[in-house]
Amino acid sequence: MEFKDRFGPWALVAGASDGVGLAFCRHLAREGLNLILVARNQSKLDAAAEELRGLGVECVTVSADLSKPDGADRAIAAAADREVGLVITNAGADSINSKFLDADIAEWEGLATMNIGTKMRLAHHFGRQMRDRGRGGLILVNSGACYSGMYGLATYCGSKGFVLNFSEGLWAELRHHGVDVLTMVLGQTDTPSYRATLAKSGQPLPENWADPDEVAATALRQLPHGPIYNWGQPNDVAGMAPNSPDERRARIEMIEKMSHDLTERV
Ligand SMILES: NC(=O)c1ccc[n+]([C@@H]2O[C@H](COP(=O)([O-])OP(=O)(O)OC[C@H]3O[C@@H](n4cnc5c(N)ncnc54)[C@H](OP(=O)(O)O)[C@@H]3O)[C@@H](O)[C@H]2O)c1
Repeated sequence: MEFKDRFGPWALVAGASDGVGLAFCRHLAREGLNLILVARNQSKLDAAAEELRGLGVECVTVSADLSKPDGADRAIAAAADREVGLVITNAGADSINSKFLDADIAEWEGLATMNIGTKMRLAHHFGRQMRDRGRGGLILVNSGACYSGMYGLATYCGSKGFVLNFSEGLWAELRHHGVDVLTMVLGQTDTPSYRATLAKSGQPLPENWADPDEVAATALRQLPHGPIYNWGQPNDVAGMAPNSPDERRARIEMIEKMSHDLTERV
């Protein structure tokens, strides 16, 4: 089946206006999929939509804050009765940049809403439609943080761990209905959000970070081969996912030391 017949005619991308989300949109537009673009900043959405329409597809923009309880419903309402064959949940970075007790609980609850409640709602609404049609796909963008807790990233790691297990469960259920599910696990990637985070914490730009365009292309290729793809790592390597308590503790301590070394260097 052509990509568009399998995953079209519309795709909804949550966190579509820059970085990996926008890169997904460019690839999908080249495949001829129409796009529903969700993010907060309307002028960034308008610029993205204008560029994507130039590739010959229709675009709808939705300004919604996905960290709010009504964020997913606003996106669902904007999709209306369009046939959405692919949903990509991209927005999900931790822009709070704080230890857990040093930020307001409302901020952490917002991050958890974006990475848990919003993703569940979008998957539930559009997943039912895909199951009824017997085709479609869900890509849940994830982070290596899904594999363990990390210093300064407790809620982020916890919510990304949810995304990992949720995606695996959905994959197991939906593959029997012709619906592909993939959680795409990213490492450091050159996005405006991550650049802002690095600048805020005074860290240098990484040397070998991933290119959003390549990340998006890889995820779309890997979509039929879920439930997990780890960026930059073959599928038979378990390097990102140690499982014994000793290995997990050692990994947490190693990452804590690395983050201290980085911030002390500047
Ligand atoms: N970049 C990395 O190094 C890296 C590493 C590992 C994993 N990841 C994962 O990759 C995904 C994308 O990361 P990213 O670095 O590009 O940052 P991001 O902030 O998660 O994504 C940026 C996109 O999402 C939108 N967005 C952000 N917060 C939103 C909100 N509350 N409601 C609606 N839209 C929102 C942004 O537009 P607006 O600001 O206009 O809303 C923009 O379109 C995330 O899930 C992240 O966890 C990234």
